Amino acid sequence: MYVQYTFYSSETIVNSTSKIIFTDNYQAMIIGSRKLYFEKLASTNSHAHAMLRKGKVQEGTVVYTAFQSAGKGQAGNRWESEKGMNILMSVILFPTVIRADRQFYLTKIISLGVCDYLRSCSIDASIKWPNDIYVKDFKAGGILIENSIIRNEIDHCVAGIGLNVNQKSFPPEIPNPTSMSLITGREYDVEQCISDLCQKLDARYKQLIYNKTGRIDEDYKSSLYRLNQFTEFRDSRGIFEGRIISVSDSGRLHIEDRRGRIYEYGFREVDFL
Ligand code: BTN
Repeated sequence: MYVQYTFYSSETIVNSTSKIIFTDNYQAMIIGSRKLYFEKLASTNSHAHAMLRKGKVQEGTVVYTAFQSAGKGQAGNRWESEKGMNILMSVILFPTVIRADRQFYLTKIISLGVCDYLRSCSIDASIKWPNDIYVKDFKAGGILIENSIIRNEIDHCVAGIGLNVNQKSFPPEIPNPTSMSLITGREYDVEQCISDLCQKLDARYKQLIYNKTGRIDEDYKSSLYRLNQFTEFRDSRGIFEGRIISVSDSGRLHIEDRRGRIYEYGFREVDFL
């Protein structure tokens, strides 16, 4: 079944396709079942929030664009991306299956979906805790998850994904960027990348819906950048050598130092050197 919609916005004409697509095991696809393209947006996450404020949105709707004028990164940073070169998208979810105290599962499945996609392109990706997408020591993508919580329920989740695809040069202030193209030497069709990525994200979301959390935990842990490798970190006490040993259910990072002492950190409480 296939329905074509055309919307008009202040910025551009938006073509949206809404399809019932079935995955390998005959389940209807959620993530990517509806895709809305914009030539330019301030931020796909902001646009997704605006849609949610306006009214009913189909779960799994993907908002994507060629260019963001005010792309949002983690911790109030900006996300810069050359026009038309990369994946800039947000997924809207209503994850009623998990309570707010388990919201880190959303971080896990989205970052795993991105890694699965990169691995399907023969790119050896890892997750720099909590959700940076790394290839070797370079950042290929970032994720910004914004949840709306009411009591202990997640009312909705906007999962923003920025993945560098064809961009080959980056502004010097971006610390250690890379892209799929820089890694493989190939050029990619960004639209096709988004469709393929949606399939991987959808498969991971189904694992969450069907309570396959053991599998998610295992895969997230084994995908962690620098898992079990002694390297330098910096926390509020200074620089030390340690190794990542695990991540708690609430998403806190556990690092063991050379003397076997284990420290627990929240986001931005420890730096990887
Ligand atoms: C990070 O700082 O690593 C997270 C970056 C997240 C960027 C993506 S791009 C698409 C979506 N819309 C935004 O404004 N931000 C996210």
